[in-house]
Amino acid sequence: MQPPAVVLTEYAPEDRSALELWWKNAAVAGYLGDLGRLLRESEVGSRMTDGYIARPTLRWMARPSPTGEPFGFIAVQVTGDRDASYAVVPPLSGGVNIAIDPLRCGGGLGPATMKALLAQPELADLATLGGAVDVTNLPCLKMLLKLGISRGALRGSGRKVFFDFVIPRTSERDE
Ligand SMILES: CC(C)(COP(=O)(O)OP(=O)(O)OC[C@H]1O[C@@H](n2cnc3c(N)ncnc32)[C@H](O)[C@@H]1OP(=O)(O)O)[C@@H](O)C(=O)NCCC(=O)NCCS
Repeated sequence: MQPPAVVLTEYAPEDRSALELWWKNAAVAGYLGDLGRLLRESEVGSRMTDGYIARPTLRWMARPSPTGEPFGFIAVQVTGDRDASYAVVPPLSGGVNIAIDPLRCGGGLGPATMKALLAQPELADLATLGGAVDVTNLPCLKMLLKLGISRGALRGSGRKVFFDFVIPRTSERDE
């Protein structure tokens, strides 16, 4: 079967109403947390769990065509190390958050959106892309399996348990 067409367009404030609708779904809100937090601008240079924020959060809407109705949202927070002058420096890694319209889940749009993300030129300089999946999140675990992305270590956080996943990126350094 032909994989679904996916075009990623930069997130714009007028997309928020679609996201608010999707976030009424318990799985989306439960696995991704507060929408406001995902859309809030984090300060470049500030500390996160796995590094320092290297650039403003990258956010896209996934659509079937440049002007089609959105069916997905995907965001990447890029982090890196900090040098002696407090500049954020490589190796850079991206933390991914993805949501598909709950009415469209199960049709392969998630894996197709992840593939479109991997082809984004803005991510070409990242050493890795990854994230954390709640162990109860079967659709996401199945999606990663379809993409050939292996699960990493188990990690507890509060009352939740996550698998980390990491996607190594091909970069000039490896060639
Ligand atoms: C995880 C997610 C992005 C996957 O996208 P998707 O388009 O549903 O992916 P797929 O179509 O490949 O579906 C993956 C599997 O989950 C199953 N699935 C998807 N939604 C489901 C649902 N609501 N209930 C039961 N199973 C579901 C599919 O049937 C498929 O199973 P299969 O491989 O046995 O056929 C999407 O389900 C989603 O947005 N979930 C809520 C937010 C979330 O969990 N984000 C990820 C946080 S790490």
